[in-house]
Order: sequence, then C-alpha cells, then structure tokens
Amino acid sequence: MSKQAANNTPNSGLNSRFIALKICLTVIESGRSLSQTLPEGLAQFQDRRERNFTQNMVIGTLRWQARLEAIRAQLLKKKLKEKDEDINQLILIGLYQILYMETPEHAAVSETVAVVQKLKKPWAKALVNGVLRTFLREQDAICAQADLKPANKYSHPQWLFKALRKGYPNDWESIMEANNAIAPLTLRVNTMKQTRDEFLALLKTVDMVATPHPTAPQGVILETSTDISQLPSYEDGGFSVQDGAAQQAANILKPQANERILDACAAPGGKTTHLLELSNNQASVFALEKMPERMDRLAENLYRLELDAEYTVGDASCPEEWWDKQLFDKILLDAPCSATGIIRRHPDIKWHRTEEDIEALVEIQASILKALWPTLKPGGQLLYATCSVLPQENTLQMQSFIESEATAKIIPLDLEATLTFDTPGNQYLPGRLGMDGFFYCLLEKSE
Ligand SMILES: C[S@@+](CC[C@H](N)C(=O)[O-])C[C@H]1O[C@@H](n2cnc3c(N)ncnc32)[C@H](O)[C@@H]1O
Repeated sequence: MSKQAANNTPNSGLNSRFIALKICLTVIESGRSLSQTLPEGLAQFQDRRERNFTQNMVIGTLRWQARLEAIRAQLLKKKLKEKDEDINQLILIGLYQILYMETPEHAAVSETVAVVQKLKKPWAKALVNGVLRTFLREQDAICAQADLKPANKYSHPQWLFKALRKGYPNDWESIMEANNAIAPLTLRVNTMKQTRDEFLALLKTVDMVATPHPTAPQGVILETSTDISQLPSYEDGGFSVQDGAAQQAANILKPQANERILDACAAPGGKTTHLLELSNNQASVFALEKMPERMDRLAENLYRLELDAEYTVGDASCPEEWWDKQLFDKILLDAPCSATGIIRRHPDIKWHRTEEDIEALVEIQASILKALWPTLKPGGQLLYATCSVLPQENTLQMQSFIESEATAKIIPLDLEATLTFDTPGNQYLPGRLGMDGFFYCLLEKSE
C-alpha cells in the first residue's frame, strides 16, 4: 500500500493532531457523522496545508480504523478503559501516520506523544510512546498478523465483510478495496447554462485538469480535489457536485416539459435539480423530504441553480399527509438506505451502520414503495434508487415488490459497467469507471 504523497507536515503539527483526535473521537464515540464533524473541526485552521494535513489524518484514521485496531490489539493486549478512548484513538492516529503518511517517523511519534499533555493524562505518555516505538521495530510482522483476517485487512466491520462476500462471491475483495480508495471529485454541468465542452474549456483557463465522464453525459471528473466554490461559473449555477452513478437517475427518467414528477426523498436536491436541468426547468417537480433541516439545503441549491420546484417537508410513506390526489407521471424514489455504496466518501458509515439497521431500512423502503405506488399514473414510471450495495435493499427488495404488486413491471436498463442478476435491477459497484456504488430499478405501472 503506497503512502499518501507529500503531506508536508505543517509547522504546528501538535495542533493538527489534537484537532484530528477531537474529530475522530466525536465521530467514534457520539456516532455523529464525519461530514458534519469534519468541517466544524477544520474551520479553525487558516493555513490550507495544515487543514489538508489534518483532514487526511482524520479520514485515513477512520477509514483504516479496524486494521489499526487489529494492530493496536497486538501492541497493547489489554484494551484501554472506555473513559480512555481518547488515548486509544491517539494511538490509532500515530499508527496511521507511520503506516500511511509520509510524515517522518520521529515526528509521527514525538508529535503524537506530545498530544497526551493536552489531554491531562500524564500516565499515558510513556504508554503511547512505547506502543508506537514497538510498532516501528516490528511493523512487518504485526501487519502480517493483523491482515490474516479479511475484515481487518480491508478495515470493514465483520458483519459487512460477511454480507459483501455473500452478496458478491467474485467481487467482495475489490468492493472493499474500492471502499478504501480516495474518490474522485465529479461535477455535473448545468446544461441550461453551458455545454460540457464549454465548461471544460472554462476549467482550462484556471489550469484545472478535467476530463469528460466516461458514462455520465453531463459529468466532468477533476484530476485533483479543489474548493469548488472558487471554480468558474459556480456562483452562476454553472455546475453541481455529483458522482457519475448518481447522475444516471435523471438520465434514466428523461424528464419532459410539464410532466408531473415526484422526487420522494429529495434533499439535498442533487437529483431534483438534475431533473429540472434536463427538462430545461419545464418539468413540474414536486420535491418531498422528511427532515426539515435537510430541506434548507435543497432550497439553497434550487436558488443557486436558478431552478423552480415545489417542495414540502413530509413523509413519503404517508401520502395522505401531503398528496393532492393528482397522479404523478414519474416518481423518483431515492430511498433512505445503508449508504454502503459511498463508504469511500464517508468512511464513518462502516462504524455507524449495524446489521440491525439494514433490516429496519429494508422495511422502511418497502413501506415507502407500497405507499407511493398508488400515486403513480397507469403507464407511469417509478425509478427506485439507492446508494447501497446490499442485495436486501436493492435487487431482493425489487423482487419482493413485483411479487406483491401485480401492476408493476420491470423495464430493463442498459447501464454501462453495472451488474445484473436473476432478480431485477442494475448494480454499480464502487470504483467501477470511477463511480460510487449505486442501484437502479425502473418500474412501470400497467395501464
Ligand atoms: C439518499 S438521500 C436523498 C438524496 C437526494 N435524492 C439527492 O440526490 O440529493 C435520502 C433522503 O431521504 C430522506 N428521507 C428518509 N426517510 C424519508 C421519508 N420517509 N420520506 C421522505 N424523505 C425521507 C432522508 O432525510 C434523505 O434526505
């Protein structure tokens, strides 16, 4: 495994490591999401290098948490008490630097040990120092031992490793590898404002290297990550951030002017806005979202992109609360799911999601599907989508729906780089053509 290139340890490494520790601890202990916690933690850095260094350390430590734990368990046979999880996470941060970052080893050890002072646990200084120095001496043998178990080697929880191996006997290893890779930054051109070629030319003017997406017609892949708000045409709504797999939804549904389209689980509006862009803002899109705070982000996106949709906060499984009894021509159900297809972007999913969550999600998805079906016109189409790779939420969910719903038939999709099964739908696996893991199944209601 190659180390992360030139992280250039910034001057105040102590602060970086302390902030990294606070972020990791919050995510692991409180179950708070990394996407909420990271920006708050990084906000205090003025220096870009220091911010990037801290961010890499946090994401990497969370990504490799199970492997680092398996290494730590060999170095410190007795697990630390719950109240000392800060020391445990600090050890993992130290191990991560030694294994995966180009930080000089002496700095990785001494700067990590120095953080102990800030935690006011002087007893832990010698312990952290001893653990990291032993690791430096016995690294190869310790890693080899840790990697004997695939769940440790690829840093996944045991239940998820087993589920992936069961669902994908030929692909489980490449899925877990892809889950640990750094995802590309993919944009979606707003074709109401500019063509993809015009946008690529615009990016060239600011020396951004970018290529057209291999399979998403409005997609552009940036070679390096950047602050997108600084890119040309952002303020004018010239593009959005959206993975290539997620960009397929609106392209599959092909929204037309005046069609009445329900986006049933809409926030933050990535697909709502794409549906509108592809219909030249002429489709009549009704965006529904259960969480009011997430709806605010949808409203901001519509505003920036200068698009019009009707939107309301409501529960998709209770149409009687929000439906005006006018049937929809098309429905997008981008269902709440395990998000196991986007682990490479959100490594904390591995530690927050449990096997029990999956059963509950499968029930919620089924109840939303059942509730929405009567709101679809005969002859209308419903696109079921998830960013999950688990068959229960995807192809098996679809199979049980068509078995219970006589008016539902499957419209086969021709989607490049997807897997198909004996059961319905198309599955993108993470990393294929650079995309996230995603599932699509298009259903049509018989007349
Ligand atoms: C996968 S995300 C949607 C992403 C969105 N379609 C996009 O492309 O930006 C699922 C969304 O469904 C919402 N949600 C969960 N349960 C819901 C329900 N019963 N009714 C409506 N929305 C729900 C979640 O809050 C979340 O915002």
